[in-house]
Formats: sequence, C-alpha cells, structure tokens
Amino acid sequence: MIAPVYSASPGRYESMDYRRCGRSGIQLPLLSLGLWHNFGSRKPFEDVKSMACYAFDHGICHFDLANNYGPEYGTAEENFGRLMETVFKPYRDELFISSKAGYDMWPGPYGNWGSRKYLMASLDQSLKRMKLDYVDIFYSHRHDPVTPIEETMQALVDIVRQGKALYVGISRYPKEKAEIAYKYLYDHDVPCLLYQDRYNIMDRNPQDQGLIDLAKEEGAGFISFSPLQQGLLTGRYLDGVPSDSRMARNTSLKPDTLTPDLLDALRKLNGIAQRRGQSLAQLSLSWLLTDPRVTSVIIGASSVAQIEDNLKSLTNMSFSEEELAVIDDLFVGKPYSVR
Ligand SMILES: NC(=O)c1ccc[n+]([C@@H]2O[C@H](COP(=O)([O-])OP(=O)(O)OC[C@H]3O[C@@H](n4cnc5c(N)ncnc54)[C@H](OP(=O)(O)O)[C@@H]3O)[C@@H](O)[C@H]2O)c1
Repeated sequence: MIAPVYSASPGRYESMDYRRCGRSGIQLPLLSLGLWHNFGSRKPFEDVKSMACYAFDHGICHFDLANNYGPEYGTAEENFGRLMETVFKPYRDELFISSKAGYDMWPGPYGNWGSRKYLMASLDQSLKRMKLDYVDIFYSHRHDPVTPIEETMQALVDIVRQGKALYVGISRYPKEKAEIAYKYLYDHDVPCLLYQDRYNIMDRNPQDQGLIDLAKEEGAGFISFSPLQQGLLTGRYLDGVPSDSRMARNTSLKPDTLTPDLLDALRKLNGIAQRRGQSLAQLSLSWLLTDPRVTSVIIGASSVAQIEDNLKSLTNMSFSEEELAVIDDLFVGKPYSVR
C-alpha cells in the first residue's frame, strides 16, 4: 500500500505567535521542537514523523538539531533527512532548521570542540544526513577553552559566506567569551542571531549571569533549551519514575536528581498549575514565555500528546505577582535547583 502523502494543515500559523529574533529579520515560533532525545534510531520513524508533522501543523516551524542528537549520534539528523525526503520537501522555505557542533562526534582530535577543521567537516556531514543544501542557523555548541575564539568565530563567518548556513549562533558560552564572540561576528558582518542556553524555573543561570540581557543588548535573540528541565518540570515524575521516561534511561537525567525536597517543591508547583487550570508542563513553559526577552523555547517530547499539552501553554501566559513570588520561593537558591 502506498503511504498517504503528507499535506500540512492549512491553519498551521493561526494559533502560534512569533517573536522577532533580536534585531534580525527572523521571527521564531514561541515553541520550537528539539530533536536531542526521541528522534533518533531508537525511536520508530513513524513516531518521529507523527511528532514532527504535528508540530509543524501547529505552527512550530523551527526544528533544533545538532550533529550528536539521536541516540545514536547523527541519527536524529538522518531521520530529519528522511522527513525532508518524505514530508517536508515542499515546505523547505517555511522551515527554520538548526545544527550545531561542539561536543564529541567522532574519534581523534578533529571530532570535538571548536576548531575550524571540526566545525567545517561536521556541518558538511550534517547537511548530508539532513539532505539539505544549507541550514538556517549553525551554532558553535559550546565554548572551547583551548581553540582561539577568533578561529571558531571565523569558521562561523566562512560557513555563512560559503552559503552552508544563513545565520550563526552560540550556545552555552560564558559571558566574557560571548561578548568577544558577538563583537567578532558583528565586525565581520555576520551578526550572531541567537544565544542558546538552558533556562527554566529550576535553572536561572542565564538570567543570573546577565546572558539574557547581553543577548538583547547585542541584538541577538535568546532561545531557551530544556525548558522543562528534561521532564522534571512536568507531571512525569510526581508519582514515581515511569519505565518509558528519560529518567528511567539514566543518561542525561539521573534518578538521584529527584530528591524528596525537589519532589515536594514540584508537587507544590503542580498545585499552582492546577489552580491556574494548567498542567505542570504548561505552567513551566508559560513562565518562560512571560519574559519578552525570550524569543522561543525549545521543547523536547516523546509523544504527540506531550506536544499537544505543551502548545496549550500559549493560552495562559500571565502570572500574578503573588504566583511569581511563590514560584521563586520554591526554586531560587535551593539545593535542588540547577547551577
Ligand atoms: N545547546 C545545548 O547545549 C542543548 C542542550 C540540551 C538540549 N538542547 C535543545 O533543547 C531541546 C529540548 O531539550 P529537552 O529535551 O531537555 O527539553 P525539555 O522540554 O526540558 O524536556 C523534554 C522531556 O520532557 C518530557 N515532556 C515534555 N513535554 C511533556 C509533557 N507535556 N508532559 C510530560 N512530560 C513532558 C519528555 O520526557 P520523556 O522523554 O521522559 O517523555 C520530554 O522528552 C533539545 O531537543 C535540543 O534541541 C540544546
């Protein structure tokens, strides 16, 4: 039997809002979809396709990838290439697709960190896997303390000049390095489009370090990753650790992070969410999106139902002063919060 051809929902842009990315011409959806977990070779391709198409049908036109997403490494990009071939090809110009390089990808000295050699080779590999001529944004995935920052930034500039990326960004750079990166890129006529960092109710680091304000001052957007702290800021763990959850896989989210004190705070936060008529995941996303400096938040998901739940966060984005103060009391400066 021939599989039905995908046709995107005609109403896909009706319920999503878009925010301008710093001083650029680009607008991003309030929610973007990240393919770090759950989109690689260990997930049936039909599930990957259902989630990606559901997202796009609801206005999520930004897909965030990196060379090492999967698991296994590279396979999220391979699956994205299959999506491009099978469903998204007619929609290429409606999609904003990222990739990154900065973490270990292949053995030896040229498969990690921030050298020109690594970044150039990695992007070529990513483009092949994703069946793309160019990505919309390519990031230096992390600051390399050894490679001169000028070398990493010049590689980003040249990648744009070669037409392999339209824009560039940086992720998880310490503030003093981000300042140098912004200046270098600006001086070379390739202004940094986005600064990407983890930011959520449990992890206020980019706010505390001044990285969100810095992005704004530099004319870049700020995009938050792990907005649900990998699932902790959802209902997923309120009554134990489900066997199909990220925590049960014990990779990037370790079971010992879920201490009794954290669980207690999450249950109190869930009480606030219930009083607002929201799920815990919706409250956590709404909280981030109340900040106009946040251009977009990159959600992860393991099912269509989670994306559907998360999209409802867009309908209730205002908090009372009292709610915000209680949330701060629960999570600011607590041992179970992330530093
Ligand atoms: N630049 C960087 O260094 C960097 C680092 C990390 C991530 N990122 C990007 O950010 C993206 C998002 O990161 P993340 O996956 O950690 O994001 P997240 O949104 O904090 O966590 C996603 C996980 O939360 C759970 N979840 C999501 N919605 C839910 C809902 N409504 N109800 C219950 N559980 C829900 C799911 O866990 P289960 O799988 O257990 O169902 C899902 O896999 C990544 O895909 C990647 O694109 C970038």
